[in-house]
Amino acid sequence: MATNNSIFRTKELDKLLAETKGKKSLKKVLGPLELAMLGIGAIVGTGIFVLTGVAAANYAGPALILSFIFSGVTCCFAALCYSEMAAMIPVAGSAYTFGYVGLGEIWAWMIGWDLLMEYMVAVSAVAVGWSGYIVALFESGGIKLPAALVNPPANGGIINLPCILILLVIVLFLFRGMSQSAKLNDILVLIKLSVVILFIILGVGHIKPTNYHPFFPYGVSGVFKGAAVIFFAYIGFDAVSTAAEEVKNPQKDLPIGILGSLLVCTLLYILVSAVLTGVLPYYTYKTTAAPVAFALQKIGISWGSALVSIGAVCGLTSVLLVMTYGSTRILFSLSRDGLLPEVFSDVHPKFRTPIKSTMLVGVIVMLLSGFVSLGELATLTNIGTLIAFIIVSASVIVLRKTRPEYERPFRCPWVPFVPAVSIIFCAYLIWNLPHFTQMVCVIWLCIGAVIYFTYSRSHSLMSKEENVVSPTDGK
Ligand code: ALA
Repeated sequence: MATNNSIFRTKELDKLLAETKGKKSLKKVLGPLELAMLGIGAIVGTGIFVLTGVAAANYAGPALILSFIFSGVTCCFAALCYSEMAAMIPVAGSAYTFGYVGLGEIWAWMIGWDLLMEYMVAVSAVAVGWSGYIVALFESGGIKLPAALVNPPANGGIINLPCILILLVIVLFLFRGMSQSAKLNDILVLIKLSVVILFIILGVGHIKPTNYHPFFPYGVSGVFKGAAVIFFAYIGFDAVSTAAEEVKNPQKDLPIGILGSLLVCTLLYILVSAVLTGVLPYYTYKTTAAPVAFALQKIGISWGSALVSIGAVCGLTSVLLVMTYGSTRILFSLSRDGLLPEVFSDVHPKFRTPIKSTMLVGVIVMLLSGFVSLGELATLTNIGTLIAFIIVSASVIVLRKTRPEYERPFRCPWVPFVPAVSIIFCAYLIWNLPHFTQMVCVIWLCIGAVIYFTYSRSHSLMSKEENVVSPTDGK
């Protein structure tokens, strides 16, 4: 049995569920459709509207479709694990909370710390992409925004103001609560889905089979390098589980939200990549940051191209909304458990939202996106997510053994095969990411370990509890 002081102390599910009903509880407003929309809101964005071109031109060529299938399958396996865990532990905090119940506090902290990085870097990177699209839209309308106000200092500007403004709007929405934010998200999702479907319909008739030759210009290894990059496009379904405490019927609705949003997006992505690499030779995408709009422009459908740009802006806005929301809920959970200062789990008495954690996240992402040139840091999101997927998949295997008595409203099929494959595929994608990304991630995790041993371990609410169980006690 682990002692109160053990870094492997785990949380009891009953206590955890009781905590969510206390003073620091969030308002329950979300149903299955809103959850699926939240998932799609977080998923469809930079990945499909920006990274597809880069991945086709530099890594995979027409075999990009296989990159999407490989990443999609990996995510489906991970999503089955997320669904089991989220339905069993419907508490804000996602992989962090699952790790706390399944593997022990140190793992939970490290994954919570990793998720904070993942979500905040994702928000900052997507905000920069959003700003780029806005600048381009203004330019196409004949208005040139001053370079000093749309670029960070490292790129010769003073500040990337559009990033800061959009994030301010997002934070204000999140202050008001999930019900308002979910309504805004629904509208944005409908627009972006229509645009993606429109692209597929307009493009399919222009596919030239010759563009698919050679199919593997960068060899088979290029498919996996491409998969590691476009993995970003799938990130987001995991954010659905951060909403667990705000769902009306979490046991049933969370699996629908997680799996439903992922399946819709996987299908759309496979079709988009097939059309994209079919209408133009893969290498033509080398110089464009807006490949979907670019493809339509090149095949002579300019009106479609303009519509796609508007859809992309809506798409990126909803990614910002859901990812910012996810970061605040992770911070909230870490703080509620005492691993970070208590002030970040204060809930606003009227809106019942964690307003201070929302403020902190807002300030950090505004500073990051407004003043820092993110460059390669965006791939940190991929590594952060992949690590989270590994921990969640491992938690499914561990908890089936140590806590067989826990009620599982959704059961991941073929355990341990599905979680094991999820772990192997995720590890393989991490292997394929740039070394720089891997190194920065290790540094971030080391900083996390220092904070844990100097602050979180002694402040953890669990250190004050009487009985603490270790993951093996249930055997
Ligand atoms: N999947 C999200 C995007 O592509 C993060 O923008």
